[in-house]
Amino acid sequence: AGDLAFENRVRIPPLLEPEVDGDGRKRFDLTLQQGRSEFLPGRQTDTWGVNGAYLGPTIRVSRGDKVAMDVRNELPDTTTVHWHGMRLPAKMDGGPHQTIGAGKTWSPYWTVDQPAASLWYHPHLHGETAKHVYRGVTGMLIVDDDTVPKDLPSEYGVDDIPLVVQDKKFTEDGRLDLDAPGPLGLQSTYGLLGDQILVNGTRDPYLEVGAERVRFRLLNGSNARSFNFGFADDRSFSLIGTDSGLLPKPVRMNRVRLSAGERAEIVADLTPGEEVVLRSFAPKEGGGFPQDRLAGADDEFDLVEIRAKDRLTEAKPLPERLADTPEITPGKDAVERDFELSGTSKINGDTMDMRRIDEVVPAGATEIWTVRNPGNPHSFHIHEVAFRVLDINGEPPPPAMRGRKDTVYLPPSATARLAVQFGPHTDPDTPYMFHCHMLEHEDQGMMGQFTIVEPGT
Ligand code: C2O
Ligand code: CU
Repeated sequence: AGDLAFENRVRIPPLLEPEVDGDGRKRFDLTLQQGRSEFLPGRQTDTWGVNGAYLGPTIRVSRGDKVAMDVRNELPDTTTVHWHGMRLPAKMDGGPHQTIGAGKTWSPYWTVDQPAASLWYHPHLHGETAKHVYRGVTGMLIVDDDTVPKDLPSEYGVDDIPLVVQDKKFTEDGRLDLDAPGPLGLQSTYGLLGDQILVNGTRDPYLEVGAERVRFRLLNGSNARSFNFGFADDRSFSLIGTDSGLLPKPVRMNRVRLSAGERAEIVADLTPGEEVVLRSFAPKEGGGFPQDRLAGADDEFDLVEIRAKDRLTEAKPLPERLADTPEITPGKDAVERDFELSGTSKINGDTMDMRRIDEVVPAGATEIWTVRNPGNPHSFHIHEVAFRVLDINGEPPPPAMRGRKDTVYLPPSATARLAVQFGPHTDPDTPYMFHCHMLEHEDQGMMGQFTIVEPGT
């Protein structure tokens, strides 16, 4: 599968150090900038990044922190930065309404109040999200809390490794395909599907590790492609977390599928000196997995080679209990709402309109959202919330979809029922988004808006 030589040491995004201001608030400095990156040997690619040429640093915050993000836009275009998976006031969300003009700074602030999870940040300018993300404005946003068991691998870059996995397509002269003149690289109804993989912005990567037990925070940061992660030798691993938090306990498996925008935390065991490849496997039968063939790879391709050092630090036993966050459970009289995704641009028959509020939800509610997908595959994301998949086509979800989530893959002809837990921040005038996270669909209008209001208003 694939013809990678694993020649390049994978980049680990640096951890961004905050400054604590007079109010005890952790302030993070993020500068959106243009740069050039050498992905293909000897060729320079124009890219965008945060505090660097491509991708951004990892931001790490803890539950209870007061935080502020000073986001300076040194790009030539207006953009936004959205904190995907964060529970925060709508004005701080960084969706399409919180634009940052070229040369401007935006400084949202909030208090972190949600369980430990692997979140991320990326632009969300209406109609331009696919391009802005594709050029490289993406980073991880890790939330910690003090209930996370101490024995979980958690030394960043050592035994706790973020892996931002993205597919790309390059033009002959090394440009990212979306920037090439002519029609956008929309070879499929899914959106852009690349034939090269970048892991943390590194092509053809290897990762050297010095620990027996390693936690990987996997983010599918692609525009449209899904990955079906596993190891080339089929070894099993422990799934410990999904989008919005840790699982109650680890679950052994050997594949985890992530559609665009989804995350998973897995823990894998290594023996001294061994090499093992993290791979994306072909989807099982059932079609509609948003894939094109990577050249000659038959939908199976290598992502990164993991090389264990000859001496490894000894692993602590994996804790049996990971998190005790109560399961999201709708009450008997929970409000139910239905959403139908159609074509590549509509939800309930409408394309996105920034002036239209589609749904109004009382603060603190747990509702049942039924999302129906008669056609193409989609990846459904709701801002601000955490949800639990109650069932898919009437069946209980597979183990990898049972945790707390904010994005869910919907294969063709699927209906998913979600128990959606909304937060406390009310603002009748500023909406949050729900949308397909296959970014070309989002940009074409497969997005709607909801507000959170005081109950009873
Ligand atoms: Cu990751 Cu509305 O976005
Ligand atoms: Cu879609």
